[in-house]
Amino acid sequence: MITLKSAREIDEMEKSGQLLASVHEALRDFIKPGITSWDIEVFVRNMIEDHGGVAAQIGYEGYEYATCCSINDEICHGFPRKTPLKDGDLIKVDMCIDLKGAMSDSCWAYVVGKSTPEIDHLMEVTEKALYKGIEQATVGNRIGDIGHAIQTYVEGENLSVVRDFIGHGIGPTIHEAPSVPHYGQAGKGLRLKEGMVITIEPMVNTGTWQMKMDNNGWTARTQDGGLSCQYEHTIAITADGPRILTLQDE
Ligand code: MF3
Ligand code: CO
Repeated sequence: MITLKSAREIDEMEKSGQLLASVHEALRDFIKPGITSWDIEVFVRNMIEDHGGVAAQIGYEGYEYATCCSINDEICHGFPRKTPLKDGDLIKVDMCIDLKGAMSDSCWAYVVGKSTPEIDHLMEVTEKALYKGIEQATVGNRIGDIGHAIQTYVEGENLSVVRDFIGHGIGPTIHEAPSVPHYGQAGKGLRLKEGMVITIEPMVNTGTWQMKMDNNGWTARTQDGGLSCQYEHTIAITADGPRILTLQDE
């Protein structure tokens, strides 16, 4: 079922999203060589709770952590762990916050220490792809317009778009209808309506888009071992255009 949100509900989701954005802003300085993704998990969990939020991924479908910390070839749902991060690691930190019943979801990518031209290009294209998708999230457009804009841009940059994980409606729970693929055909699919709140969260790979699943049943990684990047925002479809609820400061 697709739930349309009132202006007041969207305002509440934006407060949740603004707490989430502030966590990502804080991670910019926190993430450096030598720390572990477990340190990130603890930092994030404490910051969310200190601000009256609930780390909504904990307990979701049996997931045990506040964050997904997916490193290098890990596409998504990486478990936080106690291995030190090193120069040139690409880490994607994904989290959901429930603030007084209002849900938000955002993933951001960070390079640890010194980057490389390959990582810079992958990160730049993935972030731009997110915004190309967001541009299409307008009343009257169709779901396929979002995926089409993302896919054509990414593939034109000789990178690939993951098919196995997609964006989604959000609120009251993390995953709601509709599904929001990051690939597809313009003009196809459900028509977007005022009051829908969705995530757009392209996962972009340097090699093949195909994935393989780890034995833990959660962590997906690239089949060919290539790098994977992801950025995600929570977006409300409004009469004035897409409103990014998880927008960060520059
Ligand atoms: N934040 C993830 C998403 O973007 C949700 C991960 S599901 C969990 O959809 F179980 F890992 F929390
Ligand atoms: Co999401």
